[in-house]
Amino acid sequence: MKKICVVGLGYIGLPTSAIFAQAGFEVVGVDVNKKVVDSLNEGNIHIEEPGLPEVVEKVVREGKLRASITPEEADVYIVAVPTPIHEDLTANVDYVKSAVEAIVPHIKEGNVLIVESTIPPRTMDDLVAPIIKEAGLDPYKDVAIAHCPERVLPGHILRELIENTRIVGGITPEASKKAADVYRAVVKGEVMETEAVTAEMSKLMENTYRDVNIALANELVKISAKLGVNAHSVIELANRHPRVNIHLPGPGVGGHCLAVDPYFIVEKATEESPLIQTARKINNSMPHFVEAQVERLTAEIENPKIALFGLTYKGNIDDVRESPALDIAESLVKHPRLNVVAHDPHVREEQVSFPLYSFEDAVADAHLVVVLADHNEFKSLEIDQLKKRMKTPVVFDTKNCVPETNEITIYRLGDISQLKAIQE
Ligand SMILES: NC(=O)c1ccc[n+]([C@@H]2O[C@H](COP(=O)([O-])OP(=O)(O)OC[C@H]3O[C@@H](n4cnc5c(N)ncnc54)[C@H](O)[C@@H]3O)[C@@H](O)[C@H]2O)c1
Repeated sequence: MKKICVVGLGYIGLPTSAIFAQAGFEVVGVDVNKKVVDSLNEGNIHIEEPGLPEVVEKVVREGKLRASITPEEADVYIVAVPTPIHEDLTANVDYVKSAVEAIVPHIKEGNVLIVESTIPPRTMDDLVAPIIKEAGLDPYKDVAIAHCPERVLPGHILRELIENTRIVGGITPEASKKAADVYRAVVKGEVMETEAVTAEMSKLMENTYRDVNIALANELVKISAKLGVNAHSVIELANRHPRVNIHLPGPGVGGHCLAVDPYFIVEKATEESPLIQTARKINNSMPHFVEAQVERLTAEIENPKIALFGLTYKGNIDDVRESPALDIAESLVKHPRLNVVAHDPHVREEQVSFPLYSFEDAVADAHLVVVLADHNEFKSLEIDQLKKRMKTPVVFDTKNCVPETNEITIYRLGDISQLKAIQE
């Protein structure tokens, strides 16, 4: 049975290590963070993912998975380190570079080197292959080098790692085949072979497709506000066309994938990507658009109390990375005229720079509740409680998730042409 060395033990690398170990491979997981290494060697994990603690505990106990601070000799290397963006919106591939450089002293002829991190197009050919060449090996012959992007949904990672279709792009057809065979040992979904640059672009285009389509929905919101149309009704009706799927508008696009990956394409083909760049601008403009509506709604109250509901970049998670809801909150809490409080049952105080309030304290004597994330708690908001506790029971729902009611006033982001300033 082959030995696999997985470099980077985060949301992707750790479950990947666990499923290969579970399938019988000898796996060594590598991370530069000593705490991560120590906790894994004790059979514990540092990330939240349903089902993962049990699998990790078992494979560590059985000696199939262990962790180390440095890479070691193996048959297959899998790189799953972060690829964030710099301030200037260019990709930071330094972690990938240093991970591959750390592998170099151990890699030998016949090995497979797979990068799972999301990377800009041509990274395998222009960054990874030259490092291997410098080490004295022929990257097109001696080592099978491939990119295999990840598309798992947090919360369902263990199932999706096995069931999803995988795209494996080698820098040669032989590399694609060898790397794809590694996945075929554990993946039940289809494993498709292609070229490295095609695999790189396909991953980036998946997220860019979603970003651009959300931008279209957000543009529809702004058009609808001007023309007196209900964008939510337009979307519902247009989507009854069998080949139309207008996405959901919202307060912006966040997270470390959708709000980041399009820039990897823009960086490499700036002149050729005006649509992608415009989509990014539209989505980035949404927090400000939402803030402007909050100001409009509260314009006639001297010191309005506003309760923001939800700070994460999507519903039912605790992740505030690149969250537009958080941007809105950070901006509005500083507003001199507004008394802004925030409530999010999924977020902890240490994740944010302002205090968090319970539902009851947030809505007490509030003039306006602004829903910024579609958590289940907000899909079943207790309208009676809002009516009882708020000074003026008005909700501005930017996620179109609060149930319909005649009991209180609810404005939805896609239907704001009739929006009236709240009167005390
Ligand atoms: N999390 C997701 O849902 C998801 C989905 C698709 C793609 N991706 C991509 O997968 C990659 C990894 O993402 P993640 O969410 O697992 O990241 P993460 O931040 O959860 O984990 C990355 C780990 O790599 C470690 N690390 C950094 N540099 C290292 C090095 N040189 N050597 C060894 N370890 C190193 C860090 O300490 C960290 O534990 C990124 O490119 C991301 O864009 C993530």
